[in-house]
Amino acid sequence: MKIFLDTANLDEIRTAARWGIVDGVTTNPSLIAKEGSSFKEIILEICSYIDGPISAETTKLDAEGMIEEGREFAQWHANIHVKIPATIEGIKAAKVLSSEGIKTNVTLVFSLNQVLLAAKAGATFISPFVGRLDDVGEDGATLISDAVQVIERYRFSSDILVASVRSPNMVARAALCGAHIATIPFKVLESMYQHPLTDAGLKKFLADWQSMPKNQ
Ligand code: G3P
Repeated sequence: MKIFLDTANLDEIRTAARWGIVDGVTTNPSLIAKEGSSFKEIILEICSYIDGPISAETTKLDAEGMIEEGREFAQWHANIHVKIPATIEGIKAAKVLSSEGIKTNVTLVFSLNQVLLAAKAGATFISPFVGRLDDVGEDGATLISDAVQVIERYRFSSDILVASVRSPNMVARAALCGAHIATIPFKVLESMYQHPLTDAGLKKFLADWQSMPKNQ
């Protein structure tokens, strides 16, 4: 499973880039707005830190507007994937952009039907929001499992990119469901490394090592 970082914060991206396990980055208008600087500058700086898919989201609501934005974003850098909402207009735009060879990420996906329609449009990535489904009492993991099954059964070229990840457990469940990618907030990724038994075990190893006579 590929791991993407779900942030527009350049400090987080620079730090995680050094961990050697980040394959890409996803942003969205809310994450960009948090950083308060130029959208294009942020996206291009992210492209300089991570050599992998970088998602930049459209903000128009009509297909023509999204197509125009997508064509512009794609000119910025070869790694840019145009993020488009799973609306009728968005999936129309994804079909056109995909047919032009522009990479797309259909986002704000909450149902298997939306997955199917995005896959038929040739989306590169399809992003179900598992955390927001869980927030309303639905089971995000079931959607991931069903989506992977449909993609594989009909041999669609799209990858399922699990988004709206709120905990390490959600990442583990996404992996068990066969997700192709999970996009993970920095704090969640950081906590994936941590376990108290690892810390305790390492402390004991080193204490025992230090207790040996120095001539051994
Ligand atoms: O990539 C989508 C993600 O940023 C949304 O996460 O926690 O706002 O549902 P959240």
